Amino acid sequence: MHKPVAPSCDENWQPILQCIKGLFTEPETLLEIGSGTGQHAVYLCPHLPHLRWQPSDLADQIEGMEQWFKDAELPQILSPKTLDVSDEYWLDDPVAYVFTANTTHIMSWQKVQHMFAGIGRHLKSGGLFAQYGPFNYNGEYTSPSNARFDDWLKQRDPQSGIRHFEDLAQLARENSLILHSDNEMPQNNRILVWQKL
Ligand SMILES: C[S@@+](CC[C@H](N)C(=O)[O-])C[C@H]1O[C@@H](n2cnc3c(N)ncnc32)[C@H](O)[C@@H]1O
Repeated sequence: MHKPVAPSCDENWQPILQCIKGLFTEPETLLEIGSGTGQHAVYLCPHLPHLRWQPSDLADQIEGMEQWFKDAELPQILSPKTLDVSDEYWLDDPVAYVFTANTTHIMSWQKVQHMFAGIGRHLKSGGLFAQYGPFNYNGEYTSPSNARFDDWLKQRDPQSGIRHFEDLAQLARENSLILHSDNEMPQNNRILVWQKL
């Protein structure tokens, strides 16, 4: 199989690291949702050696990311899990940290609801969920390029699209998560961090 490459990971992993290194400070397990190619795990883990990083994604993504993990030889990256956020069962034990990048605008709103519900069920009290991507505020795009991206997404899949911060905050509240911080990233992206009560 051809080793998959997501060029965006090459561009965004360093700003992501600058944000999450101050959040994910304890020697705990981190669940990554929608790991895609697995590049974020491979790039970020050497800088966060205290974490046990659990990659996951839909079944069709696992083989590709396994190639990255085999080449990287990083024991802290656990064997990737097949995980659809709509699955009732995710993991045996609760985790302290959850990370996801560029998934919330790809999934349908129903899947986003399932993602927050699953995180509510699987995050330890006081645990953190960091969510990277573009978001809208007060019903507005934050840039013309995000508006164009949203059009492109919806032409591809009408159920996808850039989500509204206020809707996510409501979903968070319904799942015992409160806003910890909202962090600016390059190219009109953000990292929203939610904390489990
Ligand atoms: C745009 S890619 C982002 C991949 C990677 N996180 C990155 O930033 O390069 C979106 C990812 O979300 C995953 N995804 C879509 N629906 C999902 C679901 N229902 N449950 C879990 N992952 C899902 C896709 O398989 C894909 O890997």
